[in-house]
Amino acid sequence: IPVDPFDLVVFGATGDLASRKILPGLYRRWFAGQIPEGARIIGAARTEMDRPAFLDFARKQIDEHVGATKHDPAQIAAFLDILDYVPIDAMGEAGWEELRLKLRPEAIRAFYFSVGPALFGALATRLHAHGIATPEARIVVEKPFGRDLASARALNATLAAHFDEAQIYRIDHYLGKETVQNLMAVRFANILFEPLWNAQFVDHVQITVAETVGVGGRGAYYDRSGAMRDMVQNHLMQLLCLIAMEPPYHFDPDAVRDEKLKVIRALQPVPQTDIVRGQYLGQRAKGACDTDQPGYLEDVGDAESRTESYVALKAYVANWRWKGTPFYLRTGKRLRARTSEIAITFKEPPHSIFDEADESWRENVLVIRLQPNEGMNLKMMIKEPGPGGMRLVQVPLDMSFAEALGEEGTDIPDAYERLIMDVIRGNQTLFMRGDEVEAAWAWTDPIIAGFEARGDKPQPYDAGSSGPEDALMLMHRDGRRWREIR
Ligand code: BG6
Repeated sequence: IPVDPFDLVVFGATGDLASRKILPGLYRRWFAGQIPEGARIIGAARTEMDRPAFLDFARKQIDEHVGATKHDPAQIAAFLDILDYVPIDAMGEAGWEELRLKLRPEAIRAFYFSVGPALFGALATRLHAHGIATPEARIVVEKPFGRDLASARALNATLAAHFDEAQIYRIDHYLGKETVQNLMAVRFANILFEPLWNAQFVDHVQITVAETVGVGGRGAYYDRSGAMRDMVQNHLMQLLCLIAMEPPYHFDPDAVRDEKLKVIRALQPVPQTDIVRGQYLGQRAKGACDTDQPGYLEDVGDAESRTESYVALKAYVANWRWKGTPFYLRTGKRLRARTSEIAITFKEPPHSIFDEADESWRENVLVIRLQPNEGMNLKMMIKEPGPGGMRLVQVPLDMSFAEALGEEGTDIPDAYERLIMDVIRGNQTLFMRGDEVEAAWAWTDPIIAGFEARGDKPQPYDAGSSGPEDALMLMHRDGRRWREIR
């Protein structure tokens, strides 16, 4: 369904995010027929260039980042027609009047701040000073939303000085992933799981976001953040919220966000003994064609860095539903495989009627695969076929979206596509509210302060492994095991 005509201004239009995600994502929505003829996308950045040069730039990004099936030169040319460019100085006055003249009073107005948070205030002020921001205009801001509670509060205050909360769209792109949204569908559109979804029946939950990439060219940013700030405070926290939250009364932005906020507030402080940090080592080339992979310290150019590229921790949600059920979270770079999943391990039945089955007994596990090969897998016990008595075996009830839904299941839009269209539709359900972000930092800050005070180095781990040894211990000592990363 096409959205209404809009003017979308992308600040930072020549930057990395705009090149890899925003422009290609908008093109894909155009290709899908969701962007109407009357829409306009205006790039704005410091770089001096004219419209043809920007169109050239945009075409290159689309060529590079859009898959072959959607790569249609005629469609790309038609898409480029709705693009425009204004060189603008966020810290000065150049370009603002030109931008104002380009915007149409009747179209929905959205401003994407695809720039560092240091510029948020300057952009917000100038949008107002130049009469560009209307009361219905929307702004989109990216993570990192601060680096601790104090800076997040300051950013919220800066934005609040110019915009209402209903106008502010804080992106956590994990919420735009199709399977992440599916968590809500699975939980609240089926009666099967919800009655068992609590401490009485769930033994523990594992949330894994494993990556194979290193920090690459982002060393300068990453080394100031680490996995805790870069991934746990936002993406893993959001996944945890969707798993742990109470059913909202309606699928409505504030109803959903109220419930997520309650989960974050119920998170208990994490003792330092329940957290493991790691740093990846380099990898020597094996064959003549392979090249050496640098380790973390080399990647960030600081042999003394104590920043973690891996973190595993045990969290508890202290409320009626979850009291006593551990949530084990882990994420890291340069691990064995790129895989993100949530595994809910249920408790054993209270009594076994199968005398001989005890040894082969396995708990039911519901695995929700977020990426790749999006789908779900429920591990169940059945009778092993054959005349050898009543022996039990665990088998998977496996569903991949690609198989279940055919083409629709494989053609999953990128998270950014969904989120940008939600901005135009004015739907904030999949965006973080200011209080949510602050609560997330309030939980994360003492954890980070704790390990910074200890000052110890993260444990080294081999590139291509499943993380540092101590992370295994985190679960072993509770008599549990991580699922394999593969
Ligand atoms: C970003 C982090 O928010 O998410 C990156 O800054 C990380 O470090 C990325 O690589 C992971 O996103 P995805 O969609 O590839 O799982």
